[in-house]
Amino acid sequence: MNILVTGGAGYIGSHTVKELIKNNHHVIVLDNLSKGRRKAVLKAKFIHGDTGNKKLFTELLKSEKIEAIIHFAASSLVGESMAKPAEYYRNNLVNGLSILDAMREAKVKCLVFSSTAAVYGEPAEIPILEDNPTIPTNTYGATKLALESAMNWYSLAYGLKCISLRYFNAAGADPEGELGEDHNPETHLIPLVLRTALGQSPDIKIFGSDYPTPDGTCIRDYIHVTDLAAAHILAVEALAGGAETNTYNLGNGLGCSVREVISAAEEVAGRELNKKFTDRRPGDPAVLVASSDKIKRELNWKPYLNDLRTIIETAWRWHKEHPKGYAD
Ligand SMILES: NC(=O)c1ccc[n+]([C@@H]2O[C@H](COP(=O)([O-])OP(=O)(O)OC[C@H]3O[C@@H](n4cnc5c(N)ncnc54)[C@H](O)[C@@H]3O)[C@@H](O)[C@H]2O)c1
Repeated sequence: MNILVTGGAGYIGSHTVKELIKNNHHVIVLDNLSKGRRKAVLKAKFIHGDTGNKKLFTELLKSEKIEAIIHFAASSLVGESMAKPAEYYRNNLVNGLSILDAMREAKVKCLVFSSTAAVYGEPAEIPILEDNPTIPTNTYGATKLALESAMNWYSLAYGLKCISLRYFNAAGADPEGELGEDHNPETHLIPLVLRTALGQSPDIKIFGSDYPTPDGTCIRDYIHVTDLAAAHILAVEALAGGAETNTYNLGNGLGCSVREVISAAEEVAGRELNKKFTDRRPGDPAVLVASSDKIKRELNWKPYLNDLRTIIETAWRWHKEHPKGYAD
């Protein structure tokens, strides 16, 4: 298929582009490089542009005969989203609506959308199911949920087919060592721990040690980025085969605490790290673990790289070989 990937120079996008090409799809990446890295786009055709540029977007859909879009491009820092809601509504919702309108104009029917566990807010139950209440506790989650909702109504009225993938914590790096995680600023636990192991930070901060969990630290669900990429291929191929608009969680189903992640990273890196315990961050639920049974059942998704050690080993290899990220 001819597939347009927005945000394909970012962390999850670049890994997905690599897997799409391996699966013989023809990929065009559109990225404004606000966060992404040009070097992370290995083989696809690259267009430097913004999702909010509807004219460019519509022309691209037509001239490249695009059959499906995978839409990663977004602003995704929870703290920043609370300080700058206007920016988040514009990039995540307004630009998303512009994409849906361009699809209508260019008669492109299929869209896979990067949604997030943040749409659930404080979970009603663990593991979290797709039909659990969605009550986001931050602007980021609210903007993603708003676009999901628009996609549902556009599907009914205009016949678009959209799959929303609600990711939990994407982690790890390309097992072949070509791609990795290089966010700036970095807010994700595993790269922060590994940067500490590389001596780039004096200690690793642990936000709260009095949660009602076995070791007192938060439990999260880490999914390997290459397993995540594979789910996008299944989703886009399902849409091309006639699947209807739908929503799926994507996690591992295995919760790991912050302390467990740090211990596993210490083992992989072969060194003990300084830990700094600080207060809980407001709005951080104690446990966030997904049920991904629906996507396993309906799209036959099977994660292969799901144990914590593999996730950390692949990430460690990339960080060790690229201590300055893509700047190396
Ligand atoms: N990383 C995670 O754990 C996680 C979890 C849940 C959901 N998500 C979602 O997955 C998607 C990808 O996440 P990521 O970690 O790869 O983020 P990322 O920041 O690495 O990638 C996003 C990419 O989109 C580009 N971009 C942003 N706004 C753009 C615009 N208006 N026009 C064109 N390009 C634009 C950025 O330059 C960047 O390359 C995001 O939508 C994010 O909200 C990520």
